[in-house]
Amino acid sequence: SPAAQAAPAMRIPYGSAVRGDALVDDFDYRTALVEHCQLVVPEGGLKWEALRPSEDRFDFYEGDKLLAFADQNGMKMRGHTLIWYAAMPDWTSSIRGGKAAERALSKHIRTVVGQYRGRIPSWDVINEAIAENPRGSDYLRPNLWLENMGKGYIETAFRRAAEADPKVQLVINEYDIECVGEQFKNRRNALLRVVRDLRDRDAPIHAVGFQSHLKGQYEIDKEGVSSFVAELKAMDVDVLVTELDVIDNLLPADEKQRDEVIAGRVTDFLQAISDANPPTAILTWGITDRYTWVPMWFTRDDGSPNRPLPLDRDYKAKPLMEAIERFT
Ligand code: XIL
Repeated sequence: SPAAQAAPAMRIPYGSAVRGDALVDDFDYRTALVEHCQLVVPEGGLKWEALRPSEDRFDFYEGDKLLAFADQNGMKMRGHTLIWYAAMPDWTSSIRGGKAAERALSKHIRTVVGQYRGRIPSWDVINEAIAENPRGSDYLRPNLWLENMGKGYIETAFRRAAEADPKVQLVINEYDIECVGEQFKNRRNALLRVVRDLRDRDAPIHAVGFQSHLKGQYEIDKEGVSSFVAELKAMDVDVLVTELDVIDNLLPADEKQRDEVIAGRVTDFLQAISDANPPTAILTWGITDRYTWVPMWFTRDDGSPNRPLPLDRDYKAKPLMEAIERFT
């Protein structure tokens, strides 16, 4: 029958951000990653802070370590992130003027993407370019590059990345574009504006990354997410989920109840994307509640531990893992 002849459906790869220290120290962590992931991404190991101890040095220790782990276990590694306002080493504050900034940006991207040419198939080129509260012409987040180069820094970054490895999926990655509310909507629209502008100028951009640090207290804007993804698709721009977790500081104390809300939000979100154009990958920002950035920023008032990730602190799967598995 035709059904029997059809090629098996391609599954959407699942992956996780990885902490280099835990990868060495915690055997159960390694085991969980190997069991569940087809993709990994360093949580901090490829940020400027880690890569650029000084202006003339590049330190690829963390990136190489994770890439070796990925290779050994048949996984792919994503790159995060070439340009971001945060995690910049102090020496970069002395970069001044358009020419110097462009030189520094180009050198960084050329060297880092070049180092992993043919081995990292997808890079976050730009992270968090959109203003916290975009309004009118004030829609980009201030950073070193915007101040010195103007908004063209974004296009330049994409061009340098494509030159360094023409086969890589080049991604613009953004947060707070998933939920119901005016701010989320404005941020989606600002991001669309950036992508459209890049497209109009024939810049090489291939996908938008939804960071997907979902704020559990808000519903997913299913309609807003679907139409956003559809508009991107019309421009031939894909989407992926890059840093999924559910921020649960304002969710119920009862763990069972909380886990259900979390899984429900993620189901709504992944369905809303898939209705318009399925994501090319789904990655969570960590795999176990044992290692998560969430409590550092979103501590619960009742003192109970956050539960933002698919496995609990003892590596037991939660409803969130099942929700993700239905899409991967
Ligand atoms: C976070 C890491 O998880 C933390 O360990 C680190 O201290 C700060 O950065 N959006 C991003 C990520 O794009 O790089 C951030 O990662 C979380 C928010």
